[in-house]
Amino acid sequence: MMSNKVFVLNGPNLNMLGKREPGIYGDITLDSIAQLCRDKGNALNLDIDFRQTNHEGTLVDWLHEANEGVSGVVLNAGAYTHTSVALHDAIRSILTPVIEIHISNVHAREEFRHKSMIASASKGVICGFGPNSYTLAIQAFADIRNS
Ligand code: DQA
Repeated sequence: MMSNKVFVLNGPNLNMLGKREPGIYGDITLDSIAQLCRDKGNALNLDIDFRQTNHEGTLVDWLHEANEGVSGVVLNAGAYTHTSVALHDAIRSILTPVIEIHISNVHAREEFRHKSMIASASKGVICGFGPNSYTLAIQAFADIRNS
């Protein structure tokens, strides 16, 4: 039987949401996004494990952990999205599907944000919907589970 557990993993500087560049990210805090994700998970019978780290290697460790007993990973890798071969390799090294997400529309921003190192290893990408980028990805995993 497929697990109901979904990891929601957040990378660097996302702990600063609420204070950080509100013109781009809005004024919602990461704690409020975590609550939105748990509410969405409850509605869909998915168990959300929501985490944040500023450290690339910790994201690698959590992706490896997601290979056992986890049905999907929602990953906002922050700036590591644009730089990290290690995250690309970690996603490729596990069988659990990963959805890359971003709060902002990275394609409407600076050119260095247009390139993702992790998109090609991911199941799909959602960006530009604010905090709803997270809940849309959780919905996608529920749809996959139910299909
Ligand atoms: C982000 C977009 C990234 O380019 C940036 O480095 C972030 C946040 C987003 O959610 O919009 O830290 O991932």
